Amino acid sequence: MSGSQDFASTDPHKKLYEYAQKYGDIMCFWLGNIPNILINEPKLIEQVLVTDIDNFYKNSPRKAAKPVMNGSLFLSNGKDWEFKRRNHPFSANEISTYFDDVLPLIQTCTREHLEKLQPSSSPKNVEMFDELTHLSFRIFGLTILGAEMGEDFFSYFMTLMNEMNSRGTQVFPVSLSFKFWSERNKWFKFIENQINAQQKDRNGVDLIAFLTGTNTELSLEQLRDELSTIFTAGTRNVVIAVAAVLYLCSRHPEAKQKLQLEIEEFESQKNDFHVSDINQLTYLNKVVKEALRLYPAVPLFIREVLPGKSVVLGGHSLPEKTQIFISSWAFHRSPNHWENPDTFAPERFDTEPRLFHYFPFGAGPRACVGMYFTLVCTKMILLTMLSEYSINVAPSCTFDTRYFAGTIMPRDGLLSQIQKKVAV
Ligand code: HEM
Repeated sequence: MSGSQDFASTDPHKKLYEYAQKYGDIMCFWLGNIPNILINEPKLIEQVLVTDIDNFYKNSPRKAAKPVMNGSLFLSNGKDWEFKRRNHPFSANEISTYFDDVLPLIQTCTREHLEKLQPSSSPKNVEMFDELTHLSFRIFGLTILGAEMGEDFFSYFMTLMNEMNSRGTQVFPVSLSFKFWSERNKWFKFIENQINAQQKDRNGVDLIAFLTGTNTELSLEQLRDELSTIFTAGTRNVVIAVAAVLYLCSRHPEAKQKLQLEIEEFESQKNDFHVSDINQLTYLNKVVKEALRLYPAVPLFIREVLPGKSVVLGGHSLPEKTQIFISSWAFHRSPNHWENPDTFAPERFDTEPRLFHYFPFGAGPRACVGMYFTLVCTKMILLTMLSEYSINVAPSCTFDTRYFAGTIMPRDGLLSQIQKKVAV
């Protein structure tokens, strides 16, 4: 069937959901004269991402992301990918000490941001998605680069994100503007300078300072590309995870109360804590997992049959370069694979999901390298917010999502009321 028209009028994750509901495990749709396959069956997903991985490669979102992500892991393949994955900052031995070290920084940033937003205990309405976007950017600046990144750099970052988003929707990408190149150069230069500066001053707790104690084989340019991609592949995803939890808890007061109680009890017992302590917050863990089931920040990803190969998938013979779509958004909401998929039920994670049924971070060797960092940031931000503030997403907010630069975001923002709790 022809999908070009469909994708022009509906966000891709929602269209793939409709296809999956209608056509089941495997179906073919055409984008222009190119056939694409959507798979919605755990065994087929396992075949593409794990058992038959050598017959596939990652070519998308090259068109959209190459000018922004340059030579980073995200877009590489084969031996180049193996080298970059092995040497990625988050693959380093002892990385867990870095996660412990940055926890207080994430907590302080969150506190300071909320204090600036609402220093008094009266209620205040704020556009929470925008606030979280700024907060996450500041946290990444301090924890990754050891830098306080001002508004100029936020604006360069948004230029990169907006370019990646618009190139993803263009059939024939238009040439890049002078503004894009100039801001990308300033962004890259800043990261290179920061690498040089932080490597001299090893006292920081940021990722660059941490890496100086490891034996990474990445060159300066390669490290710069990875650190930059941590921002472009990661900051907004953390925001989406936090925003989805705030939204779902506002709509489910019982869950919210349960979470609140767990957090208050934790806060009253611990002053100085580690990631392992946060991981003991079992209800928080389940709420975050369930939020990412319903709102996986990266709702779809794509593989291509390697040039020169043909593959049998689900009994169908696929020629080289066929694109395979895998959509966590569609699969996580499938009644064939999840009981009451539209219901928010953190308790469903009392037991581990079955294999290849839950993949907000992808799966197999190319699964998200930032998963652990995401979970640390998301939980620490939520823990700080909910222990010190009462946050209610406005009843008018539906959290309807649109596709933006490979991620989802709430189409109409996240208008929320925040109120500082009065200390007793
Ligand atoms: C809610 C948060 C996040 C979600 C849902 C998410 C999701 C994903 C998914 C689905 C993939 C696999 C894509 C594919 O197979 O083609 C992926 C890969 C990747 N993610 Fe994330 N991500 C998140 C946060 C982050 C963060 C914070 C970073 C950086 C710190 C990051 C960096 C990457 C990179 C570099 C890859 C490519 C890994 C590779 O190809 O080897 N992500 N992510």
